[in-house]
Order: sequence, then structure tokens, then C-alpha cells
Amino acid sequence: MQLIKNCLGQSHEIVDMVVKEGDTVVDATAGNGNDTVFLAKLVGEKGKVYAFDIQEMALQKTREKLVSQGLTQRVELIRDGHENMSKYISEPVSVVMFNLGYLPGGNHNICTRFQTTSCAIEAAMRLLKKNGLIVMVVYYGGDSGFEEKDTLMEYITTIDCKKYSVLRAEFVNQPNCPPLLVLIEKL
Ligand SMILES: C[S@@+](CC[C@H](N)C(=O)[O-])C[C@H]1O[C@@H](n2cnc3c(N)ncnc32)[C@H](O)[C@@H]1O
Repeated sequence: MQLIKNCLGQSHEIVDMVVKEGDTVVDATAGNGNDTVFLAKLVGEKGKVYAFDIQEMALQKTREKLVSQGLTQRVELIRDGHENMSKYISEPVSVVMFNLGYLPGGNHNICTRFQTTSCAIEAAMRLLKKNGLIVMVVYYGGDSGFEEKDTLMEYITTIDCKKYSVLRAEFVNQPNCPPLLVLIEKL
């Protein structure tokens, strides 16, 4: 069995270690609902998942997955930008997940952008509890281009190291812009 998982697999391993039953967590980019379902299972019946997407198609796909697995009660689906998450969430959260890029199978022009992503990171950092984690899988290249990734990589180096620990991990010997992983822990 391969030990080093791809970035999506690594993101799930880390989130699995951090999230406890009863936690409140956020899926900032619901997309096809895979991370929302993953989080809903981890938080259990007493927990809560806030899941954001700007596309109704994404929320519909997410809703279908949640219904088929009986997980709707613990998830609030919100059709709004993740940059507005503080309008909807007031309690501390243990994890905020982001998958940056476009909806697989959807319109590639509707994708995450640095300006709103950075606002969402700021909002998420305020909502995190101590030792809470932002977990980002950053897709780039191809139709996503490099602008968001390049600006984001600059931005994360400016986050206050006394308040947050920031780690970036990437495969350096793979072709075709494999996604990279960013972790931000509140200290
Ligand atoms: C890579 S996909 C997410 C994949 C998803 N995590 C999954 O498990 O299938 C990125 C999603 O971000 C959404 N998105 C783009 N800008 C957004 C924003 N400002 N706020 C919330 N979602 C946004 C897109 O509509 C798209 O569905």
C-alpha cells in the first residue's frame, strides 16, 4: 500500500484526526458533496456541518448525497460565497475545509478566486477554536490557471506566525500540476 497519499487523501487523514463527534465544522466549497458527506459522518448526530457553494447545481448534488446516506439533519447547505461565512456561523469551529478550483463536471469558469478565498480564510481564522485547522487542497493549472494559487502562496507567508502555524505540502516530482495542501492551525 502506498504510504504517501495524494493531497485529497492527506487532507482527509488530517481532518479525521482533528474532528471529534459533536464538533461544528465547515465545508467552504461543497462542490459535488464528497467532503460534506465525509465531515457529516465525522461530526456524528450531535455535530453540525455548514456547507457553502455559490452554485445551486453543486448544492443539489451535495443534497442528493446527504439524503441517500441519511445525513441531512446535521448539515446546513448555504448558497452563498464562503467569504460571507461569518454571517451564518457564530460558534467556534474545529475544521474548515476548502477544495479550491472549479466544480468537476461543471462550468470551469465558475471557480474560486483569490480575492474571495483570502476573505474566507480571514473569516475562517477568526472562527477557529484553539488548535482548530483550515485544510485546503489547492487545484491549479489547466483551466484553473495559476493566478489564485500564486497569489495565495504569497498571502499565506504573511499570516502572523505568533497566532497561526502554516504548512504547505506538495509533490515535487509529478507532472501536470498535482494539487497542493495547505494547513493553517490556530495557536
Ligand atoms: C473543487 S470544487 C469543490 C469540490 C468538493 N469539495 C467536493 O467534494 O466535490 C470547488 C467549488 O467551489 C465553489 N466556489 C467557487 N467560489 C466559491 C465561493 N466564493 N464560495 C463558495 N464556493 C465557491 C465552486 O462552485 C465549486 O463547486
